[in-house]
Amino acid sequence: RTESFVGGRWLPAAATFPVYDPASGATLGMVADCGVPEARAAVHAAHEAFCSWKEVSVKERSSLLRKWYDLMMQNKGDLAKLITAESGKPLKEAEAEVLYSALFLEWFSEEARRIYGDVIYPSAKGRRALVLKQPLGVAAVITPWNFPSAMITRKVGAALAAGCTVVVKPAEDTPFSALALAQLANEAGIPPGVYNVVPCSRSKAKEVGKALCTDPLVSKISFTGSTATGKVLLHYAADSVKRVSMELGGLAPFIVFDSANVDQAVDGALASKFRNAGQTCVCSNRFLVQSGIHDSFVKKFAEAMKRNLRVGNGFEAGTTQGPLINEKAVEKVEKHVSDAVSKGATVVMGGKRHQFGKNFFEPTLLSSVTKDMLCAHEETFGPLAPVIKFDTEEEAVAIANATEVGLAGYFYSQDPAQIWRVAEQLEVGMVGVNEGLISSVECPFGGVKQSGLGREGSKYGIDEYLEVKYVCYGGL
Ligand SMILES: *[C@@H]1O[C@H](CO)[C@@H](O)[C@H](O)[C@H]1NC(C)=O
Repeated sequence: RTESFVGGRWLPAAATFPVYDPASGATLGMVADCGVPEARAAVHAAHEAFCSWKEVSVKERSSLLRKWYDLMMQNKGDLAKLITAESGKPLKEAEAEVLYSALFLEWFSEEARRIYGDVIYPSAKGRRALVLKQPLGVAAVITPWNFPSAMITRKVGAALAAGCTVVVKPAEDTPFSALALAQLANEAGIPPGVYNVVPCSRSKAKEVGKALCTDPLVSKISFTGSTATGKVLLHYAADSVKRVSMELGGLAPFIVFDSANVDQAVDGALASKFRNAGQTCVCSNRFLVQSGIHDSFVKKFAEAMKRNLRVGNGFEAGTTQGPLINEKAVEKVEKHVSDAVSKGATVVMGGKRHQFGKNFFEPTLLSSVTKDMLCAHEETFGPLAPVIKFDTEEEAVAIANATEVGLAGYFYSQDPAQIWRVAEQLEVGMVGVNEGLISSVECPFGGVKQSGLGREGSKYGIDEYLEVKYVCYGGL
């Protein structure tokens, strides 16, 4: 599908834009380039649909979401191929994303039936208080390219379960997964206008984002992407006081204490650093390794990288590292490496562009990294693992916390008291203790500080789309 999906219909736009395969640079297709009028029309369609969708029984909403989930599972092979084609990630990871993505629809089909209110006994006589939970209205959903499917269902599953309707603006690099989801939503019987998609090119993204986030008919903005863009959307939200969920950048520390099991730490480091070639917001950005275990960790990490990582086209069997999304992303990794090396870091492995193609970079390990280097305080979003050596627990926590963002954090330790202390002290929204992959539909995903607002997935995720209404029932 290449057209926009609004009010249950496939609609062309005045113009189209090309979507590229990041591995080869080939054009995958031309997609409707929606502008402000199309975005407004989608909001209107979503608003009209909201008036009836909020009245649909929770059981019915639940069963429609479940059907959508079933259709994703029936088409999981094709959905995975789309993800690999447009994002470049290895097919195995794309298959894992489809499953993860579908599970949000399943999870929220279940949560739809568990929206509870409260009864309160106030101090005033002859009164009872009720707390109702009501859907917010239309949600503008703006999603990134690194998880073209899962970042949509994580928001949309919760929104639809709550009784909200949505307008999705997918990233310009990866609109096909969003459109495939529209096709399946339609087949599942989700009513027209409940799930709308307006793809647009990079040059229109700003005005379309603004139109969606300032429209008076939109009640909620849910965004996953960079902290810089998140701040712009928060300004838009302020003007009309919209509810917001923001899942923004991170700078995940990965701490290995002397007490750690080094082999477990190496496995976790590989998984958390190199998933999607380092292009996830929960990827470890900084490895902090205690002096007693440092040399053994670096040596084993390098060996494991050599043994397990294979750069190539995502469709080739055995590939674990696909391309980065575009050349700008490659330039950023390159800059982080050269900055670190110029300030005294040692290249243990990799360190340069990969011969496979212009968007590919070698999995890279740096040691002797210090706090003043770019890679220690800026999100790299690529296959670069910089190792900083530390001596004490206090020092590690201080380095980990010395940033304005706080999404995920990981640490390896076999000391129960240390585990408890450090888990509490890390200023992040999610902690992996002796575990490098922590995302799961049952658990709350989100950050603190400038990494965002709100939580997605879990039993908390649905609250982001519900309003609390207090009803004071007097005269008793
Ligand atoms: C994070 O670390 C800093 C420096 O050690 C410390 O001042 C701060 O209290 C820590 N945060 C928490 C939540 O403990």
